[in-house]
Amino acid sequence: MKAKMTLHKEFSIGETDKRLYGSFIEHLGRAVYTGIYEPSHPQADSEGFRNDVAQLVRELDVPVIRYPGGNFVSGYNWEDGVGPVDKRPTRLDLAWSTMESNRIGTNEFASWLKKVNAEMMMAVNLGTRGAQDAGNLVEYCNFPKGSYYSDLRRSHGVAEPHGIKLWCLGNEMDGPWQICTRTPQEYGRIAAESAKIMKWTDPGIELVACGSSFSGMPTFGEWEMTVLDHVYDHVDYISLHTYFADRENDVPNFLGRNIDMDFYIKTITGVCDLVKLKKKSKKTLNFSFDEWNVWFHSNEADKKIEKWTEAPHLLEDIYTMTDALVVGCMLITLLKNADRVKIACLAQLVNVIAPIMTEKGGKAWRQTIFYPFKQASLYGRGNVLCCPVNVEKYDAKEFCGIPYLEAVAVHNQEKNEITIFAVNRNLNEAINLEAEIAAFGDMEIIEHSALYNKDLNACNSSMEEKVHPVIQTGGKIEGSTGFKQLTSVLPSASWNMIRLGTCNKR
Ligand code: AHR
Repeated sequence: MKAKMTLHKEFSIGETDKRLYGSFIEHLGRAVYTGIYEPSHPQADSEGFRNDVAQLVRELDVPVIRYPGGNFVSGYNWEDGVGPVDKRPTRLDLAWSTMESNRIGTNEFASWLKKVNAEMMMAVNLGTRGAQDAGNLVEYCNFPKGSYYSDLRRSHGVAEPHGIKLWCLGNEMDGPWQICTRTPQEYGRIAAESAKIMKWTDPGIELVACGSSFSGMPTFGEWEMTVLDHVYDHVDYISLHTYFADRENDVPNFLGRNIDMDFYIKTITGVCDLVKLKKKSKKTLNFSFDEWNVWFHSNEADKKIEKWTEAPHLLEDIYTMTDALVVGCMLITLLKNADRVKIACLAQLVNVIAPIMTEKGGKAWRQTIFYPFKQASLYGRGNVLCCPVNVEKYDAKEFCGIPYLEAVAVHNQEKNEITIFAVNRNLNEAINLEAEIAAFGDMEIIEHSALYNKDLNACNSSMEEKVHPVIQTGGKIEGSTGFKQLTSVLPSASWNMIRLGTCNKR
């Protein structure tokens, strides 16, 4: 099968924000305890954080990490997690029916973030709590000194403010599963008033309002219209969340699910721009896609987890080769919408629907989805090019006209490097890719790596890495001034990264 694409510097979607490659750590399952933090582990540092896990997080180059939830945040008292550890209360976490010891809280997490070179994206509790507590947390974290909460922080041994820039106004407040679900009017009001207090406390912060929990919510669209009517002038982003599942083992259909993600972004673009028009505002609202991933493998096992234990094995999806392809398609969709999606968080980072898994007292290892995320994070920063693909399409159960090739290219102008990310959705045939690249001058292939495995159910484990990128040779660039073409073979059912750079031989 053949596919053609044309790359040109002038055909630009927009620059990526580095925060497109964010992630998420919630107080859920083993994300924190026996995930990033395990004081008794042989690799633990002096603060009890696992060096092996931190090393894998650094490998992903994640610029921003959302914390402490998720559903957890809607019942969280941030005061429980600061001050002397032996005085912290153990609470019932009603979101996940788990015991929360509060051994890790805001200051410890901020300290861990420094080790992994990431910034915090802090969520405030707009479920059981409200505007005043949200403002107090901003004061505790960001005010230098001389006020009650800033001095409380200093008395906890943190002299310098954390300077947290990005804040989420609650989490999935439309969901009946949320602790203290709100109507769009209720949420719009509390979010607007919280935003005012938070920004008065620190005018340098950026705020994310909750959009719908996913595009299938009954109030999808309507929720955003009402909420934005209240908060449009006070916030900087609206959130989007999406998890994909393949419960019927219908791989061709599952591989097309990112079409839904694209539809979701386009729909919310319309809603936001309509509110902009209604308000005669000059501001264009951007998006924080702060939860996205594949999530379904652990659903049945989770039903059997004993309640009210500490750090249970919740949401421990073991990802397959197919899941890596879906995550790859989702990354491409985020890139194709980089003009509006400025922040995105792969949910989550360690143990809980995560690219990184750990064994208590044992190894840390990379899941299949680790690789597309890592490659996009390392090389998918720059100017995203609009490069339509000419390729055959197929129909599946939920979608018609799914292109066999999903692809995008990113131009790093500083280095004059182009990186093509491409998923071959054809389960049986390789794709011969032809990409016209004359606009970039003399280029050579730096690297073509592909992720594939004949067994689409292949997974990685602490013992064996069955799915990892493999260097591909055989690609070439041919032609002269005015016409230059890259040709490359993309194996069936594969994720590919092709990096091109300025030719050295002149
Ligand atoms: O990431 C897992 C959960 O998914 C989060 O806590 C919640 O926000 C979403 O429903």
